[in-house]
Amino acid sequence: GFNAGILGIGSYVPEKKVTNFDLEKMVETSDEWITTRTGIKERRVVEEGQHTSDLALEASKKALEDAKMTPEDIDLIIVATMSPDLPTPATACFLQDKLGCTDVPSFDISAACSGFIYGLSIATAYVNSGLYKNILLVGAEAMSRIVDWTDRSTCILFGDGAGAVVVGKVPEDRGVLGFEMGSDGSGAKHLLIPSGGVSNPNTEETLESRENYIKMDGSEVFKFAVRRMDQVSKNVLEKLELEVEDIDLLVPHQANIRIIDSAVKKLKIDYDKVVVNLDKYGNMSAASIPVALDEAVKSGRVSDGDKVLIVGFGGGLTWGASVISW
Ligand code: ACO
Repeated sequence: GFNAGILGIGSYVPEKKVTNFDLEKMVETSDEWITTRTGIKERRVVEEGQHTSDLALEASKKALEDAKMTPEDIDLIIVATMSPDLPTPATACFLQDKLGCTDVPSFDISAACSGFIYGLSIATAYVNSGLYKNILLVGAEAMSRIVDWTDRSTCILFGDGAGAVVVGKVPEDRGVLGFEMGSDGSGAKHLLIPSGGVSNPNTEETLESRENYIKMDGSEVFKFAVRRMDQVSKNVLEKLELEVEDIDLLVPHQANIRIIDSAVKKLKIDYDKVVVNLDKYGNMSAASIPVALDEAVKSGRVSDGDKVLIVGFGGGLTWGASVISW
């Protein structure tokens, strides 16, 4: 017997840093406000001409190296992103070409910050069904390209980066143990890009009112996040008949330190088991969880057989959690 699990992991963030002090020069804000309200100190942003698929490519190369594989070993590519290179075709197709994974099926999934967890559920189901063997799953975002740099309530929050995993067969008692996921489209209005789609194509007016960028009701998303993070984590543990004490590492979506702190308190998990890197990168949406997981693995925080809980939430509204036995 076998199970689907992570065979290799890698991540990449662009070189260019934007600190809170840089933001002070761009919008009416302060390092003090951003630090106390969010925990974020700096974030990375792409250079001109650097696309989401380029970030995905760098992370993918590292994940392949970690899995001791070459692009020829991959038989399916999934990219989770809310900041695709273009509205169509899928960013996964650009990645497929750049990697040279000849003819393999490639597609994107759209689940905002929950994208990596949604994507992992797809990859897991494919491997367990035997339909595909080695799947490259990437969370990649150039959020700096879709935020309004004149809107202080959003531009301070986000950052760019990518995290990739190769999902394939592992021994039966290891790997991805299960999922709990959900969505509530009645909350779509709280976090969206209002224009540019079929229901509201871009016109001079939409561009003038900057509706082609992310708009967010921060306090609504905050309340939703605090409620769902705790609930979905408890649900997945219950489903898998695990206790909080069985979890060795918690890798939460990196949106706001106050959201993480509140979930940690409600879950009653030791803080030294919690991975936090949002101070360095801000919210990288679908890339946040795989980048944080990669950093935890590479810094030796994950040992053989450890149980890792990943949990995320975001636009949609969407949410999800999974437990991986390493
Ligand atoms: N600098 C200074 N002041 C600011 C800034 C800023 N950058 N942004 C907002 N303010 C002001 C507001 O105008 C407001 O002023 P007012 O009281 O005079 O009206 C005041 O600060 C307080 O604003 P709040 O929105 O109440 O601040 P809050 O404590 O809720 O923090 C924040 C705002 C950080 C956005 C918080 O609500 C949050 O993190 N929400 C969740 C966001 C999130 O996680 N989004 C991502 C979801 S994942 C995905 O799918 C992408």
